[in-house]
Parts: sequence; C-alpha cells; structure tokens
Amino acid sequence: MKILFLDQSGKLGGAELSLTDVAKPYRETCLVCLFADGTFRELLEQNHIPVQVLATEPINVSKESGILDSLGSIRSIVSLIVKVTTLARNYELIYANTQKALVIGAFASFLSRRPLVYHLRDILSPDHFSSTNRRVAVTLANRFASLVITNSQATQAAFVEAGGRRELTHVVYNGFEPENYNIPDTDAHEIRQTLGLEGQFVIGHFSRLSPWKGQHILLESVAQCPKDITVILVGDALFGEEDYVKELHQTVTELGLKERVHFLGFRSDIVPLMKACNLIAHTSTAPEPFGRVIIEAMLCERPVVGTAAGGVIELIEPGKTGWLFPPGNSQKLAQIIMSCYQQPEQADAIAHHAKIQATQRFNLKTVNQQIAQLLSTIFRT
Ligand code: UDP
Ligand code: GLC
Repeated sequence: MKILFLDQSGKLGGAELSLTDVAKPYRETCLVCLFADGTFRELLEQNHIPVQVLATEPINVSKESGILDSLGSIRSIVSLIVKVTTLARNYELIYANTQKALVIGAFASFLSRRPLVYHLRDILSPDHFSSTNRRVAVTLANRFASLVITNSQATQAAFVEAGGRRELTHVVYNGFEPENYNIPDTDAHEIRQTLGLEGQFVIGHFSRLSPWKGQHILLESVAQCPKDITVILVGDALFGEEDYVKELHQTVTELGLKERVHFLGFRSDIVPLMKACNLIAHTSTAPEPFGRVIIEAMLCERPVVGTAAGGVIELIEPGKTGWLFPPGNSQKLAQIIMSCYQQPEQADAIAHHAKIQATQRFNLKTVNQQIAQLLSTIFRT
C-alpha cells in the first residue's frame, strides 16, 4: 500500500519514534512528510524510510496554543496544503500522525480524494488542550477521517468525550521489537562506571523535560530517601520548556540533591541506560496517553513505577508488572521506591514477569499486522 505519512515535528518524541516503526513495512513505497526539519528526518533516513521536509521553519507545537494560531506561523498554510495535495495524488492514503498533520491532511484528503487515517496519540482533555484545539481536532477527524487509531483506551475515551465518533476509532498500542532490548549486562556496567553510579541504587527517568512529565515529583520523593539513592534524568526540553529546566536545577540545589541527580540530556542509548537502573520512574502529572518508556523499561527487565492515570493504567498491573501511584503524590512514590530498595528480589521478580507479558502484548510484528488489517478495511468499504 502506498502511504503518505504526515508529522508536524522534526524532533524525536514518542509519536515520531512510534511512526518510524509503523512506516518501516511500507518503506519501499511510502513517503513521510515533515513540517519541520530535525533529528526525526535523520532517524527516518537511517532506517531507509523516504522522507521529505515540507517546511524548514519549525511551527509552534505547544499544546496550549491554538492549532490554527500556530499553523499561522508557517509562511503559507495554503502552500503546505497544496504541496501535500499534489504529493497525495501519487499515494493511496494519507496518514496523519499529529494534530497539525491532521489539519493539513484533512484538507489534502478532501482535495486529492484520498482517504485519511488519523493516528491519535494525545488525550484530548482540558489537561492537555484548549477547547478550540479539541473542537478543531474532533471536527476534522469526524468529517474527514476514515479511521482514527488511538494509542490507548484512555485516548479513545477522551476523543469520544470531546465529541469524536466512536465508530471511527480502534485502539492500537505501540509496538516494540523485544530483541532490541536484550543486550549484554557489560554495557550497563560500563555506563554505571562512566557516570560514577557504582554501589548506588539508581532510579532512571526517561522523558523530555516538561512540567507535565513531572520530573520535580521524583526529585521531591528522592529527597525523602536514603543518600545512596541516585537519579538519572534522561531527556531534554524539546518544546521550549527551558524555564522548567531552570526550576529543576533550582529544586536540586534547594533539596541538597546536587550529588544525587544527574542530568544526561537527550540520549539515543536508552537500552543500556535503562539496564543501568534499579528502578524506572514515570511521573506524569497529567494523564499520559500511552507512555513508551514504561514498556521499554519492562522489555529491559527493570522494575517500573508509573502514575495511575491515562493509558498507564492499561500498561501496568500493580504488584504484578510494576507499581502505580496517584499523579503528583511524591510521598506515595517515595514509599514505592523504598520498598524496591529494601526488597530487590521482589522487584526483580516483578520485572521478570513484566518482561514476559510486555514481549507478548506489545510486539511490533503483531501491532503492524493489526494496523495493516485496519488500513485494508478502508478500501473494502
Ligand atoms: N527518549 C529517548 N531519549 C531520551 C529521552 C526519551 O530516545 O533522552 C525516548 C524514550 O525512550 C521513549 C520516547 O522518547 O521511547 C518518549 O516517548 P513516551 O511515549 O514515553 O513520551 P512522549 O515524550 O512521547 O510523550
Ligand atoms: C505521544 C504520547 C505518549 C505516547 C506516544 C506514542 O507522544 O504523549 O504518551 O506514548 O505518543 O504513541
């Protein structure tokens, strides 16, 4: 099938990493169009997936800004629609991977008479989006999309709650290649050595630095724990959250954590870094639509704790494959950290069980078959 994928971002967020996996089986015939240049283009090229950058000036991707406002920052929205429409005539289907891609994709779908698929990876709730953004997304999806793939039941429920047509939706979780997570322990030892983490109980947080990702909650928790508990914060501010980064550094100083918190910035070697951890913490304060890091932690066979909201509830079975704590509750998180610290054998057993389950539930091969099957139904109706 010839697919024209659209994504607004040039940067590597979870939506873009997942799209790379979705596009792989179509690389001989597909094209991925980006509305900004960046490391995402490089990743697609490394994977031999055809890519074209349609606008070199990054558009504002802040979730709070109006979709239409930020689209206004592109020199010409019309020119983007024209470019996509022209390209779409050589493809059978338009696949929008982000909200602004949906806006352009909807018009291009109408003009080129190509069906539109919307891969919805955001929870369309007031926590994340203004009412205008929610209305625009739902109206365009209802009117133009033949299929809305949601990355969790929570994402699906929020879409319906915002007025989206349930019959358009299908839940498809992110898929992963389990074999990529089986690396020798020596790599992790090397990382521990390089970062001076030997003999420490290391908690890893893997996410862009952003207020709703809640890195500050982890810092508050760790301040309540023994001194040989150390944190690595892996990730960078991707979408202009520099003020939050400053606040995090300030919090580290105020809580006396300077020796115990390492800011590692954006890294591509997630697997050995995860393997170097004793526990991986996910701390989003607003509902997380899916949360790739949780499954990655499971596949690395490392214990994982996440917040009890959004899609995360569908990923972690508390006490069986990890732990959940109420969003923003640093005290509860500290208790979970302490129980992993004091009973490492129990934590390891849970991590082992989680790896087996995640390998079965979130296998890329199965997920890509599921997507292929859904796409084929569009042409049968
Ligand atoms: N990630 C990465 N390098 C980093 C931090 C994060 O490659 O320094 C990856 C992480 O492994 C995960 C993705 O970025 O695959 C983040 O996806 P997730 O669904 O957890 O959250 P999002 O940022 O998309 O909301
Ligand atoms: C988005 C969501 C994240 C999800 C990812 C992949 O970036 O914020 O929760 O895991 O998409 O679907």
